[in-house]
Amino acid sequence: MSKQFDVIVIGGGPGGYIAAIRAAQLGKNVACVDEWKNAKGGPAPGGTCTNVGCIPSKALLQSSEHFEQANHHFADHGITVKGVAMDVAKMVARKDKVVTQNNDGILYLFKKNKVSFHHGRASFVKAVEAGYEIKVTGAADETLVGQQIIVATGSNARALPGAPFDEEHILSNDGALRMGAVPKKLGLIGSGVIGLEMGSVWRRLGAEVTILEALPIFLGAVDEQIAKEARKAFDKQGLKVELGVKVGDIKTSKKGVSVAWTNAKGEAQTLEVDKLIVSIGRVPNTIGLNAEAVGLQLDERGAIVVDADCKTNLPGVWAVGDVVRGPMLAHKAEEEGVAVAERIAGQHGHVNFNTVPWVIYTNPEIAWVGRTEQQLKADGVAYKAGTFPFLANGRARALGDTTGMVKFLADAKTDEILGVHIVGPMASELISEAVVAMEFKASAEDIARICHAHPSLSEATKEAALAVDKRTLNF
Ligand code: NAI
Repeated sequence: MSKQFDVIVIGGGPGGYIAAIRAAQLGKNVACVDEWKNAKGGPAPGGTCTNVGCIPSKALLQSSEHFEQANHHFADHGITVKGVAMDVAKMVARKDKVVTQNNDGILYLFKKNKVSFHHGRASFVKAVEAGYEIKVTGAADETLVGQQIIVATGSNARALPGAPFDEEHILSNDGALRMGAVPKKLGLIGSGVIGLEMGSVWRRLGAEVTILEALPIFLGAVDEQIAKEARKAFDKQGLKVELGVKVGDIKTSKKGVSVAWTNAKGEAQTLEVDKLIVSIGRVPNTIGLNAEAVGLQLDERGAIVVDADCKTNLPGVWAVGDVVRGPMLAHKAEEEGVAVAERIAGQHGHVNFNTVPWVIYTNPEIAWVGRTEQQLKADGVAYKAGTFPFLANGRARALGDTTGMVKFLADAKTDEILGVHIVGPMASELISEAVVAMEFKASAEDIARICHAHPSLSEATKEAALAVDKRTLNF
């Protein structure tokens, strides 16, 4: 007899594990199947985010930032440090520990919420009267039946044609997070989120970093003024970014990697590096899902086709996160997971795609929500802009971190906030206020009239809101 569940969640990343917990909270009998293995072959739920993405990258960004501070900025505070050295193996081991704590946390949450966890790969077998038969191949092979299925199988790194990942010389996000030593020369293809974060980590630790980017503009999705400010800071740090490049042949040898490329002027160039990280986006992952067995519809990119409610073409089958349309962000996946669980339970789950924040955890951090100035122009929306530099913020001066600004974009007529863009210290935390404001359809004046703690970086947010009405108090 196969085990019967109300809901089977395939994939234990942020989309899947959160969906499983929420469905269980709502009284459903839930199973979650995830195949990720830790170094000992045991379960490591949490998906890309926990194992080779958001969490480990933030651990390395923190370690490398401490190193950078000790080497270059402690002296400003009167602190003399001698013999600063980096033990890369220890840094990576610490990162691995942080990952394990998160894996274990998810297993604990499954127990607490009575989610039945199955370690293995799930694939569709067939539709049956009671739902769908799902085969689990793992430590113990078994067959489960779920009345409702939530597919949350995530995404995989996209490789360049002719240059498959070997994780030795040509690295994906996975290899980029577990280099055993600092490469003397590091190349990256793609100056997106991963390119900038990983480039920052290894540059801080001493690598000579070159990033080759196909687009002629830097961070095309970011507000232009903010991207320009960030670029200035990265240039100063020595993070070399070449724009408008065309990458040609990539050859690996014992010595490293050789990348043939053409610059924006059309001149042929060669980049010789010890390691090459390819960070040119990700592709939805449906490998081994056996989608065709049940007729689950995929689009030309291999993503599962869903409607606005994450419903697929099959009754009772839903899909969330990186495997469907929309930004490949852990928090977007989580929101979809919660909404689907609530819909299954007869509630009205909702995701507001207009208020999904974005964060790039470089130094300075870059964070935004809503539309950019260039998008508003393209959409023909009349808007007012207000900016406030961290240079004029007391807390930022005290921290010794005055790079960047907060920028508000509000409707010219109604003053409703249409976008908030931040480059600077703790942008990742500051952006939450803007997300809340936009969820509640606040005006720039609403934020300008709210009492913000002094001294705090959040005062820059208030001042940028005041700037929309041209009445900053401290600038
Ligand atoms: P991305 O989409 O952020 O950036 C890819 C970059 O590669 C783009 O700038 C693109 O123009 C460039 N590119 C594409 N093909 C190229 C080629 N042939 N030659 C040179 N450049 C090329 O993708 P990335 O950085 O790989 O990240 C993957 C996903 O992971 C993203 O969706 C991102 O949102 C997510 N992620 C999110 C993080 C966060 O929220 N902080 C951290 C890391 C990843």
